[in-house]
Amino acid sequence: MARVDAGQQDTEDGGLRPAIEVSDLWAGYNGQAALEGVTLAIEEGCLAGLVGPNGSGKSTLLRVILGLHRPWRGEVRLFGQKVDRARRLLGYMPQVELVDWAFPVSVFDVVMMGRYGRLGLLRSPIRRDREAVWRCLEQVGMTDLARRQIGELSAGQQRRVLFARTMAQEPRILLLDEPFTGLDATAQHDLLNLFNDVRAAGKTLLVATHDLSCVATAFDHAACLNRKIIAFGEPRTIFTEQVLNATFQTHLLLVNVEGKTYVSYQ
Ligand SMILES: Nc1ncnc2c1ncn2[C@@H]1O[C@H](COP(=O)(O)OP(=O)(O)O)[C@@H](O)[C@H]1O
Ligand SMILES: [Mg+2]
Repeated sequence: MARVDAGQQDTEDGGLRPAIEVSDLWAGYNGQAALEGVTLAIEEGCLAGLVGPNGSGKSTLLRVILGLHRPWRGEVRLFGQKVDRARRLLGYMPQVELVDWAFPVSVFDVVMMGRYGRLGLLRSPIRRDREAVWRCLEQVGMTDLARRQIGELSAGQQRRVLFARTMAQEPRILLLDEPFTGLDATAQHDLLNLFNDVRAAGKTLLVATHDLSCVATAFDHAACLNRKIIAFGEPRTIFTEQVLNATFQTHLLLVNVEGKTYVSYQ
């Protein structure tokens, strides 16, 4: 799906620049590499998975794309623009463990936090911001619970609130860190439906996850990461035993049922 918007640049050969382009990215902590020469390109309107085991660099890559972690070398471009000029295009959903659910704040207020980047420091929320928050709450089916304290929600509801906050940023690119962790099958399915709606609206989603089955059955593209990119492409093409074993460094069993690939840990 290609769309021309303000800020999107054409390439010299007339094509459109990918939503996310990462070139030869090296990054790490205290001299220890977490990402080694990572290169990938994600087209606009894609639901893309970033899969790898714990410690494989998924969160680091998302944080570099967000401009929150400075790489040692390499470059990130969003629709052809450098990150520092294009940060407003991004929406970020952090890992759920990074959120303090005991903090006494309502669902509405959490989603309004997604507007703060647009509000700046000096402006108070105006009607447009409140309307945007209601729209996002409606999108995730949470308007009835808008005044509820976030600590009183189920895990699935908390996840939908975080997603609504991400949408309140009005992003063209969404970076989601482990959104499925700890959810039961129904809540996971609901969240995936939301991702599909957002993709159908032309947005680009990059989702860090170790849930291979979900990526295998529902995602357009996947990048297998273990400090390096092991493989990138359509899940059904790249999810081979060899690639998954190299990514997860353990033996995984692939099961094909009615044309869909499922992954089982042994
Ligand atoms: N703030 C940090 N300080 C030091 N090391 C870190 C920090 N964050 C991550 N790391 C290390 O970087 C590597 C990649 O971590 P991370 O990007 O969090 O992986 P993932 O999200 O795939 O679990 C790991 O070895 C981890 O221990
Ligand atoms: Mg992580």
